Amino acid sequence: MAGFRGKGLYLSIRVSGVLLALLSGLPALVRAQFATSDRLSQSGFWPTQTRYPRNEYTGAAACAECHKLVFERAQQTSMAHSAMLAGESSILKSNPDLGFSNGSYRYDIRTTDGTSIYSVINGVTQQSALLVWAFGTSRTAQSYLFRKKDGEFHEARVTYFRSLAALDFTPGRALASATDIAIDDAMDRQVGRAEVYRCFACHTTGSRTGDDFDETKLIPGVTCEACHGPGGQHVAQMEVGNSSPADAENGPGAIFNPKKLTPEESVDFCGSCHGSYWDVSLSGASGVGNARFQPYRLEQSKCWNKNDARLTCIACHDPHKEVETEASAYDHVCLSCHLTSESKAKTATMQKEKARLLQENLAKTHPGAACPVSIRECTSCHMPQVYVPAMHTAFPDHRIRIVREREPFPD
Ligand code: HEC
Ligand code: HEC
Ligand code: HEC
Ligand code: HEC
Ligand code: HEC
Ligand code: HEC
Ligand code: HEC
Repeated sequence: MAGFRGKGLYLSIRVSGVLLALLSGLPALVRAQFATSDRLSQSGFWPTQTRYPRNEYTGAAACAECHKLVFERAQQTSMAHSAMLAGESSILKSNPDLGFSNGSYRYDIRTTDGTSIYSVINGVTQQSALLVWAFGTSRTAQSYLFRKKDGEFHEARVTYFRSLAALDFTPGRALASATDIAIDDAMDRQVGRAEVYRCFACHTTGSRTGDDFDETKLIPGVTCEACHGPGGQHVAQMEVGNSSPADAENGPGAIFNPKKLTPEESVDFCGSCHGSYWDVSLSGASGVGNARFQPYRLEQSKCWNKNDARLTCIACHDPHKEVETEASAYDHVCLSCHLTSESKAKTATMQKEKARLLQENLAKTHPGAACPVSIRECTSCHMPQVYVPAMHTAFPDHRIRIVREREPFPD
């Protein structure tokens, strides 16, 4: 593929190719750093893993029976709805007449009775197609996949952006208005099969076993089993009364609990979809779009310590809940390490052997200084919003830092 799409969104697609090429030539030392492809090559569950047959997945509704509260919350998240059939898209339903013009080209998406037709017109030449899949939610943006006569998936050249409440070019796929381009190319980009598989692996659950990709049986969205692995055995065992916590953990009905991961693994776990440190580093991606790879950015903060569980993704985000937008809600995380007053003395940054001790006694070790400016809403200043032009909106930079005026984006 030509460019680095949307500076963010499609990293991994490129990464996987680049990674393979890079990694095969690298010494063992670097391989031990664990990019997502390395994690996936090991035995055991890891998100986006494709070695399990579809019939081992139950779907989230089966979990609701026993994990009611978690289920109800998780259903409300954007993650759980990050891909759907176009006919299910509330964006398309509530915007039945979307249009966008560029030079002599006119783009439209018209929706009637749950059917969305995407068309491109240039003078007398016109092409149209039925949209099949919608990726992304009204949280940021939504892109569309459809099939052409060749039977392959194509990605619409236009995307719906929440900040614009309208269509614009799909990130990384903008055309210069004056280009004399064939209508086929103006309309879309063909998405190769391997890439399509990857879109679905990150946006849906149980879409593929090995090379067997089944669009009709996948579970749309990042649901329980995308993070916990297929749950068929667990449900079956728990239902017959093997319902002791020990069985859930170690028995025949065991299910993957990411709680067991080390802090570094835990961030890589979310990074399997959000872009881990090594995924992004090895891809060579740079620029403001990198602010979208939270794991990569977080691990570049001075705060980061790979043995300290106080700064993993799940220290700030409950993956079963929609992201919290109140800055004060994150203060307790910063203050678990930073002193509240400048008169107190910092304690040494934790060493590996102290990790266990620390886990048991989190509040007492403060490796970080106090802020001379404020005692609340830490993230509002130290996780600055970075504007990403292709996305028409800004994203919080997870590289926690002191922001100096006119300082360029630190890559
Ligand atoms: C018939 C009841 C039942 C169903 C259905 C069920 N679970 Fe559980 N689950 C349990 C019990 C009981 C435990 C152990 C105690 C606890 O943590 O609540 C457990 C524990 C877990 C754990 C923690 C395991 C650990 O090692 O600590 C996870 C994760 C989990 N379930 C996920 C799921 C998912 C995902 C589904 C749907 C695919 C599901 N469960 C369906 C009863 C059930
Ligand atoms: C299987 C892929 C996958 C994994 C694993 C994953 N995410 Fe996500 N996540 C997504 C996708 C896709 C979205 C985009 C949702 C949308 O379309 O708006 C997202 C969105 C989010 C959001 C913002 C919207 C929301 O639902 O609150 C947060 C926060 C988030 N993820 C945190 C995490 C954390 C924390 C972890 C690790 C525990 C994690 N994610 C693991 C795929 C994943
Ligand atoms: C490696 C996993 C991965 C792959 C592969 C992937 N996505 Fe995503 N996608 C994500 C995550 C994670 C987010 C949420 C990013 C965030 O909010 O920080 C996301 C967000 C989106 C969004 C919402 C807008 C945005 O940028 O937040 C759209 C639309 C989208 N993806 C479409 C696609 C399409 C289409 C493909 C395939 C051509 C694809 N994605 C491939 C992980 C992936
Ligand atoms: C984006 C990834 C993700 C998704 C989706 C997800 N979980 Fe989890 N789940 C996690 C992580 C990470 C943990 C560990 C949390 C922790 O250590 O605080 C966890 C922990 C759990 C636990 C154990 C809680 C404990 O105290 O040990 C249960 C039960 C559970 N999840 C059930 C579910 C169910 C049911 C669903 C679907 C409705 C679901 N999860 C969806 C990532 C996810
Ligand atoms: C120290 C706290 C903290 C940690 C650790 C953290 N986040 Fe965030 N995250 C935030 C804050 C604050 C926001 C902004 C919420 C808002 O106001 O919208 C945010 C927003 C997000 C969003 C939604 C905005 C976007 O860019 O699309 C995603 C996705 C996300 N975080 C993923 C992650 C992942 C993955 C990790 C682990 C690498 C992580 N976060 C670690 C504090 C944190
Ligand atoms: C795991 C412990 C830990 C957590 C959690 C943590 N920090 Fe830090 N932070 C540190 C350490 C250690 C340093 C470097 C030493 C120091 O500050 O004296 C640091 C440095 C900083 C710096 C100075 C960075 C620079 O560019 O010089 C800022 C600002 C900061 N942290 C803010 C925050 C904010 C805001 C949060 C919450 C969003 C947070 N930290 C969470 C441990 C942590
Ligand atoms: C209104 C913006 C703002 C808020 C809110 C804020 N800070 Fe700061 N912080 C700053 C600025 C600016 C500096 C740099 C001060 C300087 O160098 O003169 C700073 C410096 C720091 C430092 C470096 C101190 C040192 O001695 O090296 C840390 C650590 C820090 N802040 C943590 C936090 C934490 C934790 C919170 C929340 C409890 C917080 N900040 C809230 C603006 C803010």
